[in-house]
Amino acid sequence: EKGGYDHFMMKEIYEQPRSIRDCMRGRIYPERGIVQLGGIKEYTEKLKNIDRIIIVACGTSWHAGLVGEYLIEEYARVPVEVEYASEFRYRNPIISEKDLVIAISQSGETADTMAAIELAKEKGATIFGICNVVGASIPRITHAGVYTHAGPEIGVASTKAFTAQVTALTLMAFYIAQQRGTITQGKLIEYLTELNEIPDLIEKALQANDQIKEIAATYKDSNNCLFLGRGSSFPVALEGALKLKEISYIHAEGYPAAEMKHGPIALIDAEMPVVFIATKNSSHEKVVSNIQEVKARGGKVIAIVTEGDTIIKGMAEHVIEIPQTGEAFVPLLATIPLQLLSYHIAVMRGCNVDQPRNLAKSVTVE
Ligand code: M6R
Repeated sequence: EKGGYDHFMMKEIYEQPRSIRDCMRGRIYPERGIVQLGGIKEYTEKLKNIDRIIIVACGTSWHAGLVGEYLIEEYARVPVEVEYASEFRYRNPIISEKDLVIAISQSGETADTMAAIELAKEKGATIFGICNVVGASIPRITHAGVYTHAGPEIGVASTKAFTAQVTALTLMAFYIAQQRGTITQGKLIEYLTELNEIPDLIEKALQANDQIKEIAATYKDSNNCLFLGRGSSFPVALEGALKLKEISYIHAEGYPAAEMKHGPIALIDAEMPVVFIATKNSSHEKVVSNIQEVKARGGKVIAIVTEGDTIIKGMAEHVIEIPQTGEAFVPLLATIPLQLLSYHIAVMRGCNVDQPRNLAKSVTVE
């Protein structure tokens, strides 16, 4: 049942090339630059008239929402707010019929997310769901939606469900952009062609597993760990930190790299591993200077870099390469080494990675 792997989590990490392909199947036509999302087709006209998108979710799904915010604002040019469902529902949020609410949930059963949906529905908003479990409660109470098709996720720590959520949000961002005319056909052809290659690139990223296992052995006894990234890699940092704390019980925090100097830099000493998502993109130079700041204080740097990056190689203790891709798709690749790092550290610490203490796969209590 674990497909030859020691744990479901590892099996699910390795399933990602397949789960992402399944998520995209029948939905993208790269040669023609077309995205089709049957589940929200009826709301195409509505999408042209919305003023704002509010994403509600919890935990890892909330992190996917933050990546979604970046993608939707960048390509569809609609303002997006990302809310913890548990906070949103207990406020008196300002919502109108011109708002689109996107609820993200792997299980489709999370109590706080369901309550947030009901509240937004009462106020007249249109609600889309992004769920993995077919026929769960959330898909039944939303107006429309998109399934992630990642397949059953058994490990309590979300892995393939997260990357499938990010993929679904990417498709949704392009779909909305296509409807609202904020993206050219030529650009869509270019982006969808890149997106279509992601499963193969994940396959390549997984090849760093042995190297990551060695890095894990070096840091398995750490008490703290910091994860830093900028732009859409900031939510990847948050997700990396959540994974590590959930399954290894090491205290970890994710931060936007530039925020480090506003506080967390005080934590850095020779005992502190700092994981940077430092891929080649518009903020590469800035991240390089953040790495220098950590090095100057004796911190140990583990950097996730784009294949062939020589600048960071000379600075970091460890460099983990991921293949080159468009900026929009970096989160899908950069997440992979972070999942593997947490997994190996947790196994080496003797933790129950599939069933971490105090956690349940779906949180149906408020
Ligand atoms: O089923 P959901 O996506 O609604 O679950 C939300 C969170 O409970 C979930 O992502 C949780 O944070 C995971 N344990 C993360 O690995």
